[in-house]
Amino acid sequence: MSSSLPAAVTSTAVLSARGLRYQVGGRTVLDGLDLEVPPGTSVAVTGPSGCGKSSLLNCLAGITLPSAGTVTVAGHDITAASPSRRAALRLAHVGMVYQFGELLPELTALENVALPALMSSARPREVYRRAEELLGELGIAGLRTSPTATLSGGERQRLAVARALIASPDVILADEPTGALDGKAARAVAELLFALPGQRRCALVVVTHAPAVAERADAVLTLVGGKLEREGAR
Ligand SMILES: Nc1ncnc2c1ncn2[C@@H]1O[C@H](COP(=O)(O)OP(=O)(O)OP(=O)(O)O)[C@@H](O)[C@H]1O
Ligand SMILES: [Mg+2]
Repeated sequence: MSSSLPAAVTSTAVLSARGLRYQVGGRTVLDGLDLEVPPGTSVAVTGPSGCGKSSLLNCLAGITLPSAGTVTVAGHDITAASPSRRAALRLAHVGMVYQFGELLPELTALENVALPALMSSARPREVYRRAEELLGELGIAGLRTSPTATLSGGERQRLAVARALIASPDVILADEPTGALDGKAARAVAELLFALPGQRRCALVVVTHAPAVAERADAVLTLVGGKLEREGAR
């Protein structure tokens, strides 16, 4: 790399947030927040209930627009894009594990996982093969034809993780992905998620209250007063 390039050009973060400000319900939830996540690395975000962790992930995914600041995903300024362009960028580059699953109850487990990739891929057979593989990796292959409405909370949570991974995203945002899981299932999900940055050079941001999950991340950040503070690094 040329040493004459200015710092802004040499920045390699696949996910970057600068000066994010977000107000909701009369509160300033994000207050000039900065975050840089290089490819192949993971960040855990902790903080008390209501401090703004889910709001932050929604801004990073381009689901919510901040009142100030920019979010760049895989080189695209998602905050400057139109709503339809934001949706397209999200589909192409972001995998989101929602705190409450956000699965479609009328679809089977396999269909829920395959859906986002079917929307952007012309190869449905390959998508279903990968969806089956992910269900197996998450220990829920036996549920592939089950209506999602009949699954337990922990089974839905694993399904939500599989769905976020189906399109091989550059950025994975996971909101308490192990909150409804017992020790063994939580470890399996955490192992799968934290292996991804190394395997695929993606960026991973995990919101979690579980110290055993947070300590797997390359950096642990706490959301305090609308900004991220660094707790420690490996
Ligand atoms: N649409 C909304 N209208 C009003 N207030 C909102 C809205 N969305 C979020 N808030 C408020 O913003 C704050 C941050 O909410 P957020 O869901 O981001 O917190 P969180 O850190 O994810 O909490 P938890 O750990 O409980 O999931 C809370 O006080 C919440 O009540
Ligand atoms: Mg939340």
